[in-house]
Parts: sequence; C-alpha cells; structure tokens
Amino acid sequence: MADRNPWPSLRLLLLLLTPAVLSIILYKPRDFEAAPLPGDYPFSASLAVPERHGRVLAAAERLGEGVLVGPEDLAYDGESGYLYTGCYDGWIRRVRLVGDEDDDELKVEDWVRVRGRPLGIAFAPDGSLIVADAYEGLLKVKPDKEVELLTDEAEGLKFKLTDGVDVASDGVIYFTDASYKYDHEIHILDILEGRPHGRLMSFDPSTNRTAVLARDLYFANGVSLAPDQDSLIFCESVLRRCRRYHIRGENRGTIDKFIENLSGFPDNIHYDKEGHYWIGLPVGRTLSWDIMCKYPILRKILFILQKFVTVPHNLGDSGGLSVALDGKPITLYTDPDLDFATGWLKIGRYLYYASLHKDYITRIDLTIK
Ligand SMILES: *[C@@H]1O[C@H](CO)[C@@H](O)[C@H](O)[C@H]1NC(C)=O
Ligand SMILES: *[C@@H]1O[C@H](CO)[C@@H](O)[C@H](O)[C@H]1NC(C)=O
Repeated sequence: MADRNPWPSLRLLLLLLTPAVLSIILYKPRDFEAAPLPGDYPFSASLAVPERHGRVLAAAERLGEGVLVGPEDLAYDGESGYLYTGCYDGWIRRVRLVGDEDDDELKVEDWVRVRGRPLGIAFAPDGSLIVADAYEGLLKVKPDKEVELLTDEAEGLKFKLTDGVDVASDGVIYFTDASYKYDHEIHILDILEGRPHGRLMSFDPSTNRTAVLARDLYFANGVSLAPDQDSLIFCESVLRRCRRYHIRGENRGTIDKFIENLSGFPDNIHYDKEGHYWIGLPVGRTLSWDIMCKYPILRKILFILQKFVTVPHNLGDSGGLSVALDGKPITLYTDPDLDFATGWLKIGRYLYYASLHKDYITRIDLTIK
C-alpha cells in the first residue's frame, strides 16, 4: 500500500489558515493601531537587585479583611495614626494604626465616598487628602470631608485615567494621567496599543492652574517627590522604568534616568521618610510579554481576542522594590502568593501593601525574618 500523501491535509490547513492570517493583517480595528515600542525598550536582562526576600508573606497579617475591597494605594497621616486607602467601590477607608486603647487599633472606618474609582492618594500640607480618581480627575477631600474637583483636563485634553499623585511641601500637586484615550476599565488596551497617551502634570492651588510637565508617556503611573523637593520620580508602567523630573535648579523642567529595566511593571511609588522609595511592581515580566512587546501584530491579535479571553498576567517577580535616593535598587520583597500588589509603604517596623485583587491590606513585620 502506498504511503498516505500528507499534502492534501497540509493544503487544506493552508487553505483554512491563509484567510484567517490575511484577515488579521488586513483588519483595521477602528481607532486602535498597535505600535512598535521605542528602540530603547529593554528586552535584555532585568536589573539585578542585590537583596531579595522571596517569602515575605510568612510574617504577614491582614487588615480590614472583607471591607477594604480592591485597595490600590496607601497614604499615612502620622499625626492621627490613620492609614488611608482608596477602594474599588469609591470609598476612601482608613485604619487606625495606633490606638489609645487596644480596641482602637486596626479598626477600619468608612471615611469618604468619592464618585469614581480612587487610585493614587496623598496628603497636602493643609491636611486635605488629594485623590487621583480614575474616572473623575484630580479631587481634594477636605478634613471636613467635603469633596472638590480640582482639575480634569489640561491643554484642552480631558484626563481619562488619572492615576498617581503626590503633593510638595509648598502645596503644589504633581500627578499623572495614565491615558487620555482609554479609561480604567479598558486600560489593558492602552498597554496593547503601545502608544504614549500619558502625561505628568502639576496643579497649583494658589492659581488653580494645571500645567503639563511631560507628555507622550507610556502609561504614566506613580509619582513621588524627592525629600529635598527639588525633583520628583514618576513611573512609566509599559516601559518598566521610573524617571526623575527636575522641579527646581539649573536642570529645571528636564527629565533624567532614575531606574530602568525593572523586573516588573511599576505602579505607585512612595518615599518612606527614611531614605528609600518603595515601588510597587504588580505584574512581573515574562518571555511572552517581551515577545508581545516586540511584535505589534501579536498585540493586535490579543486586542481582537481580549473580548473573549482574559489577557494573561504573570505575577512572578512582582512585589515591592525598595530603592535608594540615587536610584540604586536595594531589596525586592516578593512571595509566590503576592497578587497585583500596587501600593507599598513602610511605616516604622511594618511594610504595608495594597492589592487591586484583594479585599484587605497586608502588613508585614520586617523584624521577623
Ligand atoms: C537597560 O537595558 C538596556 C538594553 O535594553 C541597556 O542599554 C541599559 O544599559 C540597561 N540599563 C541598566 C541601568 O542596566
Ligand atoms: C480656585 O478655585 C477655588 C474653587 O473653585 C476658588 O475658591 C478659588 O478662589 C480659586 N482661586 C483662584 C486663585 O482663582
């Protein structure tokens, strides 16, 4: 008997596949065109971190379980001892970290409900809490709980995803809009498209003026003032880097490198008043993401598919990274059970983290090894 000829089935396969491949190439989704990432996108090895704690949840405790739903960022008011976080349902909630009596400690309280989805939060010198609300824009919550919209557009372009915020000691607010094109719910499309729709901005409460400090950013995220207030650090999630913007001095208005080639996609950044920044890396880097970043056609395919399948996120190598003032990485705190840890803050002997995927805040006792 003659061998079975493999060609008819191969031909059949090609016959079926060619139109599919052609239609993907020719298909032009309305208002979406995946672009190559900039030439300096780091496909090579990630930055080495000298120290690594791989089981950081071994000494962890949950705060506000079931109440603190989808906490994204953290802000601490040292005077009152309250730790604040913005939740999925629009509530800003707070936990008392120091109590007069034992009862008072770790009690969770609903504080203020804002209209949208609070992401970055930071205290202003006058005691108000400034909120980067994904849907509403930049908000101010006064100590008497009155909520005021500060700004939601700049240069005639409305914010679509207000994301990170910090406030300087002179009261000027620095914040980011991750994208003027895609909102919080569909932010993954911004990442798949690979185009820079982000802006770093300032809002001066003495003039009510919103100024654009940097534009064409790839998913602009967390912001933190340097302790000397001369500059700030801001994160660009897609490019896995954070850069320094000079506010004052001879380099005023310019941008320098701070830390790059991170092992994950950076989110919020906070200064701990003890010489370190803390960068949240909610999602770790993988080979498949690298390949996707390299080839826009694959991101286009994922764009077509994402209506039916969830885009996979790798969580390995995610965690909290402590960084020195000069941008040198120090320690990566990670754990196999960490999940989408967006906001990290060290307060005294504890390291706190908030995660979009959890309904509690975690605190880690750093004195337990
Ligand atoms: C980051 O990676 C790029 C190559 O992708 C390399 O040119 C650069 O020197 C690296 N930076 C650091 C600080 O390692
Ligand atoms: C800024 O806006 C607030 C609230 O709308 C207003 O009360 C204040 O007078 C404004 N300040 C200036 C300098 O326009």
